[in-house]
Order: sequence, then C-alpha cells, then structure tokens
Amino acid sequence: MDKNFDKLANKFAKNIYGSLKGEIRSRVLLRDLFEHIDLQSDTKLRILDAGGGFGYLSQKLAKLGHKVVLCDISSQMLELAQQQIEEHNEPLDIELVHSSIQELTQQEFGKFDVILCHAVAEWLVDAENTLQNLLKLLKPDGAFSLMFYNKEAQRFHSLVSGNFEYVEAGLKAKKTVGLTPEYPLYIEQVTSWFTAWKLNVVCKSGVRVINDYMKPYPDQEINVDKLMQMELTYSRNQPYISIGRYVHFIGKFA
Ligand SMILES: C[S@@+](CC[C@H](N)C(=O)[O-])C[C@H]1O[C@@H](n2cnc3c(N)ncnc32)[C@H](O)[C@@H]1O
Repeated sequence: MDKNFDKLANKFAKNIYGSLKGEIRSRVLLRDLFEHIDLQSDTKLRILDAGGGFGYLSQKLAKLGHKVVLCDISSQMLELAQQQIEEHNEPLDIELVHSSIQELTQQEFGKFDVILCHAVAEWLVDAENTLQNLLKLLKPDGAFSLMFYNKEAQRFHSLVSGNFEYVEAGLKAKKTVGLTPEYPLYIEQVTSWFTAWKLNVVCKSGVRVINDYMKPYPDQEINVDKLMQMELTYSRNQPYISIGRYVHFIGKFA
C-alpha cells in the first residue's frame, strides 16, 4: 500500500518545513521552477500538486495567481492545508481533492500546465506505473516536476554515519518507521523512465547536497546564509547531484 501521511502530518510539517531541511528544499525547488516555467507571466497556469501534503508549494504558486489542484490520500494533510489556506490574507485558488494520484482522471480534471510530484514517488508501491499514468494529465507543452528520495545518497549517508549493518542489510530496516521512505529510487532508474516516457530532463538538481553530511568543528557556528548559497550552487554540479538526499527533475515532452 502507498503511504498515507495521516498521523504524520504534524511531524512532517515540523521536522521538514520547520527546519533548515525544508528551507533548502523549497529554495532549490522554487529556483528550478522559476527558471524553467513562466510563473511570473499574466497567464494563469493550471497546476496539479500530486500528493501535495499540506501544500507548501501549492500555496506559494497560488499566491502568484495560479490555479492549483492539490490531491492527497491523507485527510489530515488536507485539513492542515485548509487551515493554512484560510490564514492567508488573500483568497488562494486551491482545490483540495481527497483522492489518490491513481484515481485522478482527465475526464474529471482536464489537463495541466504543470504537474508537481514531490517526495511522493518513494512512498509508492509502483512509482513507475503511477507516474506514467499521472503524465496523461500533462498538456503536451507542460512541465513535470518530480522530486524523489535518492537511494544512493541514502547509502552514502548511512556509510558516513557508520551504519554499516544497515548498508549490508541492503538499506532494509528491521522495522520501517516514520519519515524514512520505503521505496527510494536510483537516479539512473528515474532517468530511464523519463526516456521511456519521451520526457527530456531540462533540469536536474540535488536537494540537500551538503547539509546532511556536515561535520562542523565543536565550537563552529554555521553561517546559514552561506550554507544556503553553497547548497544552491552545488545542487547543480556533479558529483554533488548524485549525493543529494533528494533529486529534482523537470521534464518536458521531447
Ligand atoms: C512526504 S509527503 C510530501 C508532501 C508534499 N508533496 C511536499 O513535498 O511537501 C508525501 C505525501 O504523499 C501522500 N501520498 C502517498 N501516496 C499517495 C497516493 N498514492 N496518492 C496521493 N497521495 C499520496 C502522503 O499522504 C503524503 O501527504
């Protein structure tokens, strides 16, 4: 079964978005999206946030005037989204849909200019098929923004943490808990899917290429602005992309 984030909504909001991890994630994603999609023109784009959680990015994009459909299987995530949407001073055009990605149809929702699917694929039992079907909702000139948990980075992080037994066990925990994804993906695997789907990868970034590996000296204070700048710079360079805890692809049909 795909992972429903009921019971994890508040923990997710706090652990990810309430921390530097979330700040890095949103800065890298937004930079990439602004570079490759015309988000600042007067044309309102139809955006689907598939597995959008409480809609951190949905809210940012709706604030720019775009029309967003956010779908998630977790009613708790959607309640949190609703609460946050109501806290904005201006009305946001976000339709909350309590449904799985697999249940979305073109008949009901039409096609979208942009589909976001961030940090969801690694929770799906069959990401390849689910994403391939999701692409039926993308306009021919649309953009697909996929961020996934990187299995090779998971291994590297475990190695440098001395978690050798876990590595030897093939990164399979005895018991999977909380926010550790169950189906991490390899960059090569996702690249081959994009090729099969005739999507050109127009943007590839590593997300958290430094932060998670940092070993500051005992009394060293980290300059967070500088760290952010370094994350943004190295997110686009190899070998750092390959060790990003997440990897962000933007694909456009060839
Ligand atoms: C790690 S959260 C990411 C949320 C959001 N995309 C973000 O980046 O902030 C993963 C979300 O995917 C949702 N999810 C998992 N499987 C799903 C499916 N098959 N259809 C729709 N949502 C799903 C979970 O309920 C959860 O809210």
